[in-house]
Formats: sequence, structure tokens, C-alpha cells
Amino acid sequence: MTCLQLQNITKTFHGDGGVAVRALDGINLRIEQGAFVVMLGSNGSGKSTLLQIIAGADAPDNGTVYLDGQDITQLGEHQRAASIGRVFQNPLQGTVGTMSVEENLALAACRGRRFNLAPAMQRGLQDEIRQRLEALGIGLENRMKQPIATLSGGQRQIVTLLMAAWHQPRLLLLDEHTAALDPQSAELVLRMTGNIVEQSGITVVMVTHSMEQAVSFGDRLMIVHHGKIVLDLSGVEKHRAQPDELRRHFEELRRTDLLDESVALLLRDQYV
Ligand SMILES: Nc1ncnc2c1ncn2[C@@H]1O[C@H](COP(=O)(O)OP(=O)(O)OP(=O)(O)O)[C@@H](O)[C@H]1O
Ligand SMILES: [Mg+2]
Repeated sequence: MTCLQLQNITKTFHGDGGVAVRALDGINLRIEQGAFVVMLGSNGSGKSTLLQIIAGADAPDNGTVYLDGQDITQLGEHQRAASIGRVFQNPLQGTVGTMSVEENLALAACRGRRFNLAPAMQRGLQDEIRQRLEALGIGLENRMKQPIATLSGGQRQIVTLLMAAWHQPRLLLLDEHTAALDPQSAELVLRMTGNIVEQSGITVVMVTHSMEQAVSFGDRLMIVHHGKIVLDLSGVEKHRAQPDELRRHFEELRRTDLLDESVALLLRDQYV
């Protein structure tokens, strides 16, 4: 069953002096339920814009977004929040630093529901938070009462991940969620991502710049370039993909860009 479908999505930004930047250039995409998609692409290729549009934080100029077959293009970010969880690059972004680990998780648990967090957090909820932290196997249950600001960036990102996945959203969007971390923390966060996703079966789109992550995670791999999906591997092809092969692919894209630029320069010289 299809979870997410994008039909002919385009988005142009107008930068300084009205210069137009075509961030997304006719994206057509279908993602099946339970898929784990890894998305690569050089800086400015349109990955974050695509995730913003899927989440409803930004509107496309044209095109349609379907979630579970329903046209959600006109729904705002808040209306989609129950169905779409997100984790960003900055570990500070998804949590409230002055609140405890437990309170942050309680906020996620009570999101969109009538609740009364303080003074007495419901016993049942406290137990559930403890259980879910214990299940991660990294001792976070012993730090439930501490302000989340006292956790390391990696630990904090894991709590953010748990919050985003708390109510089993239909879709989880991870935008370079390990990029700001040291290699060891990044590895831990990735491992936890894998565990959470595997247990819940949530459909995932994970943006990364790491070729190694791209080959070892997920069951589908895409490269975005100039607002288009230029490579889309799944099945055996994804399974066999190697970092070097992906690097060669990027070099090839760069060569084509350089060639395009020189042709454009040549043409310009001819006509001035
Ligand atoms: N709000 C905005 N206003 C103007 N231009 C924007 C805006 N958001 C994105 N852009 C431009 O759109 C293009 C795509 O940006 P986007 O952030 O989607 O790229 P990205 O693939 O996520 O890059 P990175 O890997 O650096 O995060 C870039 O040229 C960027 O400068
Ligand atoms: Mg980005």
C-alpha cells in the first residue's frame, strides 16, 4: 500500500534581487508503507525543501501531496503533525531544554490530546515513559528527572526521535538528524533509529550526506540533484550499492554541471 505520493511538485524561491531558485523541479514519487528511504544530494539540491513540503511547513507552487491516498496538499503543518513526525539536524530543536526528559516525553505523549501534565504526572504515563526509555537499552531511564539540556547531543536526539515516533506517525522525516553529532554519537543515534523504525514499522525518509549511512541503512536510496530525483535504487540494486559507486555518481553529476556551465558561457560569449 502506498503511504506517500508526490505528484509533479515544484517550488521556486525568490532570493536577493528577485533571483529565482528552482528548488524542486517536478518531483514525482511514490513511497510504499513501511519503506525506509535514504535521500542523498549535494548542498542546495532541494532535500530539505522536499521534506518541508511533505510536512506542510511550506507549500508547493504546483503539485499534489497524498498521504494514504488522501490529498493533504491544503493541510497545514499542525494538521499533519499527528501523521508526520520529524527530527532535524539541531539536537536543541525538538525538545525543551529546561524541562526534564520525562516532561519532554510527556509533552509528546499528550500532543493533540487534552492533558494535565503538572503537578502530578499520571502514573500510567510515567510508567510507559520509563518502559520506552528502558527498551532503548542505553540507561536513559535513570535520567528521566534531569533537565534534557544535561544530556549529550546524541542522547537528546534519541529522545527527540522517541518523541517523534511516540504515536506511531504514518511517516517519519529525518533531516540530517545525525549531522551535528560526533561519529560515535551519530552511530548510536542511527542504531536507535533503526531499532525504533524496525519495531514500529513506520515509513521513513532520512536525509543524509553520508554515503556509508546511505548504503547500510534503508531499503531504498535516492539522489536529489537540482530539485529532481536523478537516482532511485531499491531491492537488490539498493542492497548492492557501494559508497564508491555513489561517489562516482556524484562526480558524474558534477562533471555534467561543469559542462552545462561551460556550454552556457560559450553560448553567452557567442551572443554578446
Ligand atoms: N526560504 C528560502 N528562501 C530562498 N531560497 C531558499 C529557501 N529555502 C531554500 N532555498 C534555496 O532552495 C534551494 C534548495 O534548498 P534546500 O535547503 O532544500 O537544499 P538541501 O538539499 O536541503 O541542502 P543541504 O544539503 O545544504 O541541507 C537552495 O538553493 C536554497 O538556497
Ligand atoms: Mg537541507
